[in-house]
Amino acid sequence: MSLWKHHAKFERHSLLLIIGIVVVVSIGGLVEIAPLFWLQSTIEKVEGVRPYTPLELTGRDIYVREGCYLCHSQMVRPLRDEVERYGHYSLAAESMYDHPFQWGSKRTGPDLARVGGKYSDSWHRDHLIDPRSVVPESVMPPYKFLAEKELDYSDIVDRMKAQHTVGVPYTADMITNAKKDLEAQADPFSTDAVGLRARYGEKIVNRDFDGDPNKITEMDALVAYLQMLGTMVDFKSYKAQSPENQR
Ligand code: HEC
Repeated sequence: MSLWKHHAKFERHSLLLIIGIVVVVSIGGLVEIAPLFWLQSTIEKVEGVRPYTPLELTGRDIYVREGCYLCHSQMVRPLRDEVERYGHYSLAAESMYDHPFQWGSKRTGPDLARVGGKYSDSWHRDHLIDPRSVVPESVMPPYKFLAEKELDYSDIVDRMKAQHTVGVPYTADMITNAKKDLEAQADPFSTDAVGLRARYGEKIVNRDFDGDPNKITEMDALVAYLQMLGTMVDFKSYKAQSPENQR
């Protein structure tokens, strides 16, 4: 009997075919999944990557709440046209503290993974209040209310604890000082900014993101989040590790 005739048996008996499929898929699954139980990490550690500050975290929650991800992705693919348009391709480590991650594939608007520092705070404010005031052909909806609505951060400690539960390394010190750090980052004259920088890094600038010194608005949080995107890693000095060094 030739090999081909054996194959005919599978094709004629659906139960045999199902058993055959299960065997093949299990082997494939084992080969892919089993190594993950022995690998310490599949993410290369990269200098500069840190958990979000409390203000950035609330900004990120607003980004998710408003469904910005329905039109914007946050992952620069390692393809030449993407890298030339947006900058260095995204690293896995850059979204290791993103729960849930915002990679996405729907791009009605541009990718935002490297938008931090591309525009001024006031550009973002004007753009979010009325996108067509700065980009006349824009189809992005306006989010004027963000500039008027005071930020509710009464639950910031709980939000950080929830992030900690899923693996974000917030320390007890960061969680205890969450409210103070949030207020410090939105105030250019804050004396608590020293503590904020000690906890989250020297690069963090405390300023009035929405241009309204009287209150902390949702706009403050969202702009702080946008201005941070893609700025944690210094790509002038970053070098990808070779696979041999990754163990
Ligand atoms: C209906 C789709 C849509 C939604 C929803 C949307 N955007 Fe946009 N966005 C666009 C389009 C299209 C552009 C390009 C034109 C422009 O700059 O306005 C854009 C541009 C941007 C830019 C400028 C990017 C660059 O590199 O020039 C930022 C920042 C931005 N959007 C942020 C947001 C945020 C934050 C939200 C949620 C509050 C949001 N967008 C929601 C469609 C959308």
